[in-house]
Amino acid sequence: MGDAVIGQEMIQLASGREVPSVGLGLWKIEQESTAQVVEDAIECGYRHFDSACDYGNEVQTGEGLTAALAKGSVKREDLWITSKLWNTYHRKEHVRPALEKSLRDLQLDYLDLYLVHFPIAQKHVPIEKRYPPGWFTDPDAEHPVVEADGVPIIETWRAMEELVEAGLVKEIGVCNFGCSLLRDLLNQADVPPAMLQIEMHPYLTQEKLTRFCHESNISVTAFSPLGAQSYFQLNMAEAHESLLEHDLIKTIAVQHQRSAAQVLLRWGVQRGTSVVPKTCNIDRLQENLAVHDFALSNDEMSAICLLYTSPSPRDRG
Ligand SMILES: NC(=O)c1ccc[n+]([C@@H]2O[C@H](COP(=O)([O-])OP(=O)(O)OC[C@H]3O[C@@H](n4cnc5c(N)ncnc54)[C@H](OP(=O)(O)O)[C@@H]3O)[C@@H](O)[C@H]2O)c1
Repeated sequence: MGDAVIGQEMIQLASGREVPSVGLGLWKIEQESTAQVVEDAIECGYRHFDSACDYGNEVQTGEGLTAALAKGSVKREDLWITSKLWNTYHRKEHVRPALEKSLRDLQLDYLDLYLVHFPIAQKHVPIEKRYPPGWFTDPDAEHPVVEADGVPIIETWRAMEELVEAGLVKEIGVCNFGCSLLRDLLNQADVPPAMLQIEMHPYLTQEKLTRFCHESNISVTAFSPLGAQSYFQLNMAEAHESLLEHDLIKTIAVQHQRSAAQVLLRWGVQRGTSVVPKTCNIDRLQENLAVHDFALSNDEMSAICLLYTSPSPRDRG
């Protein structure tokens, strides 16, 4: 990472590589707007993008990245691109083809980080049959079901390790793992996971898991860092769960002359995690990146952490 990220705080991985602490989350960005959002984000100064096969917009993400690279807005080595292995590709013979499909779609020859999206192995769906495959084996069935596949995580991990050896990915990691699964993986891995990506915000502070990761040289990325916000449209959260509307967050925001979203993102960055807020709004792209030039006091950090014990804790882990 070079001059392009001057002014942005970085997270240092165990290998010494550095990830910009604020990235753009790409889940739920419509295909039609993704390429433009990615280009706009690069113009704003984003250098870290959080993609996944499952988001269904890697082709368009690739178009945006390619356009920005062609214009000379940024160099490949100044970008940090993460993607994720979907649940239906956990068998060892499916891992590399899944990564190669993401690379083709993103128009890249390597990823900075490849994550196992969930510790859940599902029945294989060939890429030619349906892509991205989603959760159901047959979504058109009268009663669609999620079918498990008995693949031990170490089989998947060995295939992930081979991607590092082949130079196709720089770092590998996992999402949505708890302490026990991480311990089991660490006990067996030749290449330890560099990153854990988990839901994290003041209603789900993940204190113990974060401490365990930092003690084990695993960096942490917070997904859904604004809390319930992105779950409203999925009917998975209700208005009273909004952190952006919480009095404490709003009061701290006023004191710092910042927005509530900036306070939540600053809280994440100040805890030593990276955050990957999603937005397709140009003003919010800028707002969400502008969290490196102010600091929350220790008292403010602690008060925000205490929201976890207030009546509306969320846990989708
Ligand atoms: N590994 C996993 O299993 C996993 C799971 C979930 C998410 N993720 C990753 O984490 C990323 C972020 O999580 P998320 O998308 O669930 O939630 P989020 O980034 O916390 O929240 C996104 C929502 O907040 C709104 N928003 C963004 N910036 C705002 C601002 N400054 N003020 C007010 N509203 C704002 C967005 O609307 P607008 O677009 O209209 O601005 C959107 O509705 C995802 O995109 C994905 O990359 C990973």
